[in-house]
Amino acid sequence: MLAGRHLVLGVTGGVAAYKAVYLARRLIEEGVEVRAVMTPTAQNFVGEATFAAVTGTQPIIELFGHDDVSPHTSLARWADAVVIAPATASTISKLAAGESSNALIATVLATTAPVFVAPAMHSEMWEHPATRANISRLTDFGYTIVPPQSGSLAGGDEGIGRLADPEDILKMVRSIFDGGDLAGSTVLITAGGTREPIDPVRYIGNRSSGKMGNALATAAHARGAQVILVTAAPPPGNLPGIEVIAVDTAAEMAEATWGRVDIADIAVMAAAVADFRPADVATGKLRRTDGSPELLLEPTPDILRGITKRDNRPYLVGFAAEVGSLDAAVEKARTKGVDLLVGNDISIDGSGFGSDSNQIALIYPDGTTKHHPLLPKRQVADVIWDAVVEQRAST
Ligand code: CTP
Repeated sequence: MLAGRHLVLGVTGGVAAYKAVYLARRLIEEGVEVRAVMTPTAQNFVGEATFAAVTGTQPIIELFGHDDVSPHTSLARWADAVVIAPATASTISKLAAGESSNALIATVLATTAPVFVAPAMHSEMWEHPATRANISRLTDFGYTIVPPQSGSLAGGDEGIGRLADPEDILKMVRSIFDGGDLAGSTVLITAGGTREPIDPVRYIGNRSSGKMGNALATAAHARGAQVILVTAAPPPGNLPGIEVIAVDTAAEMAEATWGRVDIADIAVMAAAVADFRPADVATGKLRRTDGSPELLLEPTPDILRGITKRDNRPYLVGFAAEVGSLDAAVEKARTKGVDLLVGNDISIDGSGFGSDSNQIALIYPDGTTKHHPLLPKRQVADVIWDAVVEQRAST
């Protein structure tokens, strides 16, 4: 329920600031108490009198000169949620750096309430690696990004970067107060690439960064799930509600996953698990002077298969990273006993291991395949959760 909630609306200096006025009005219509915080440059686009009239209170622009000696901490404590719409590249960069240079950033730094960031900027700026990195950092902080849309931009340009529709922003904010479409579900996610020791120094590993698994965890958390993340990679930032179990090897990942799977409603196997490990791990460091070692490999436990064999198994999502064609992924969807398989071709530029984006296909056990465009991993995570929610609701 939105009615009665306290919401800080951050407005920054982009032409889409006029849409924030409509968003403020819609929030008020829903019974939300809105306090606007404007960056100084936002005033180039909309006057403070407009927000004062729509919200019924004077917007905060400066940190000083108020009766309240600390408006940012008062607002931060008052807020049930903070929504920044539009968020310019400059504000996103300051948020990522934690640079408390104006009343809005100071409020965000001081709050423990959920933070929504709705970017708006030209396509080139949105796609710049600096913006990509900043957005990825904000998702690590647990902020929810309301992705920009494609359409006409300032100056007559066209492309991605347009502020999300205020009704979509409203929908995302409402979903956290309504509990979200994964509320009541426990989600178990494996992530990262396992490392199989050769000796105390070296291991056999793979290129997985864990970013897709982290994005799935933060997205599930934002949609109301209890999340257990079994990961062989650095986890996302400190998020209450995500239980992180750090592991190294396939055997450790298997033990942690099988040990928790009984309490999971949904299991998503996003980890790149080594299929083989050295049969004998050297206790001392292997020396060059001892000559080329011969490594005998043995199979690791198949974690996914261990789940499909269970009587009361959770809804199960598998992953398949393939090179050049998804034919093998379609075969895996048919034969592995999963409910959904996420296939991706890691040879596509900007997709797969280590990158911040991914181009996936959702493949069902009957072979039905839905291709999706290259998207930031956090958006890919929502595409996957949308499919999971839809399929679970229809069975
Ligand atoms: N997986 C697992 N345990 C393993 C290996 C893989 O749980 N020991 C999971 C992965 O997390 C993924 C799915 O199984 O969700 C498919 O992994 P993949 O390596 O593509 O499957 P394989 O059958 O090992 O296929 P390939 O021979 O192509 O490696």
